[in-house]
Amino acid sequence: QQANNHVQEIAAADCHQPPERYIRQEHKEYGNFTTNGREFSPAEIPVIDVSLLPSSPSELHNLKSAVTTWGCFQAINYGIESSFLEKVREIGKLFFGLPADEKKKYLREADDVDGYGNDMVLSDDQILDWNDRLYLTIVPKHQRKIQFWPQNPTHFREVLDEFSSKVELIFEAVLKALARSLNLDEDCFLNQYATSEKIGARYNYYPPCPRPEKVLGVKPHADSSAITLLLQDEEVEGLQVLKDDQWFGVPIVPDALTINVGDQIEIMSNGIFKSPVHRVVVDSEKERMTLAVFCPVQSNQVIGPVEGLITDETPRLYKNVTYSLDFFLKIFQQGRRPIDACKI
Ligand code: SIN
Ligand code: FE2
Repeated sequence: QQANNHVQEIAAADCHQPPERYIRQEHKEYGNFTTNGREFSPAEIPVIDVSLLPSSPSELHNLKSAVTTWGCFQAINYGIESSFLEKVREIGKLFFGLPADEKKKYLREADDVDGYGNDMVLSDDQILDWNDRLYLTIVPKHQRKIQFWPQNPTHFREVLDEFSSKVELIFEAVLKALARSLNLDEDCFLNQYATSEKIGARYNYYPPCPRPEKVLGVKPHADSSAITLLLQDEEVEGLQVLKDDQWFGVPIVPDALTINVGDQIEIMSNGIFKSPVHRVVVDSEKERMTLAVFCPVQSNQVIGPVEGLITDETPRLYKNVTYSLDFFLKIFQQGRRPIDACKI
């Protein structure tokens, strides 16, 4: 089914050197940036109180400034209790803690994205990411592939289902606020979507690596979503974001969701909001688990810059495109950033 082994098993085998296919070749990574994964400064990413966004012009201004400079923010007060976040983390940790055979009941099929797996192999010479993941479509409900939703731990499905309804509300609130921060009608980003657009949730599990500087948890990339919500590990950092050609470590803010915009919002905002390039480094001793939610994953609709943002001074920078999985993979396999293929 899958050409490569699960990283968790490789790590457990106690090798002193990661297998060849995981060893970084920096010249093949996006961009050409210095740093060895250990020397980087913390990113001073603004903390945004999502509950204030509908009423507070200054919080809206802070949001705009965060997303135009970093492409991301640390969201607090977005409507999920911290005790519930604990459960969302717990079901993921319990799943990855299961014996390999039990997890493999949910194995992703070669031509699919849903299920338990690891880095998708798109070419023979691809360097693989040091992580395993469990990817599940969560919205709309009728598009879920329930056979991949673990039944162990027993409350997995129930917790992820409840989390999914909350995620939709955050997606709407953030897209409305982003539009209002640019003095646009609050629905103008949301209006470009149909209700059938998919939201996907991905648990990422990063085992410790004996030579962490030799691998990456996730290679440099930008997200294809409109926005991505990230529930970080509560203890172990690893996410880094690129700004002005430098890598910055994203700190853990207790109970916050790290929210970044993806390529779809960069296009719709005609480049005002930047879809940030980011990557993940791993630890020599500690495992790390995160949950990333892609809202929506890719768009099957035609999306493009909002009319109100195209002026004589700020001409249209992007074509109207369908940011579908096919489009994304085609450009990605050519070794290019998909958003670059959307530029005029
Ligand atoms: C990702 O960007 O794909 C994962 C982010 C993380 O796990 O920190
Ligand atoms: Fe990402």
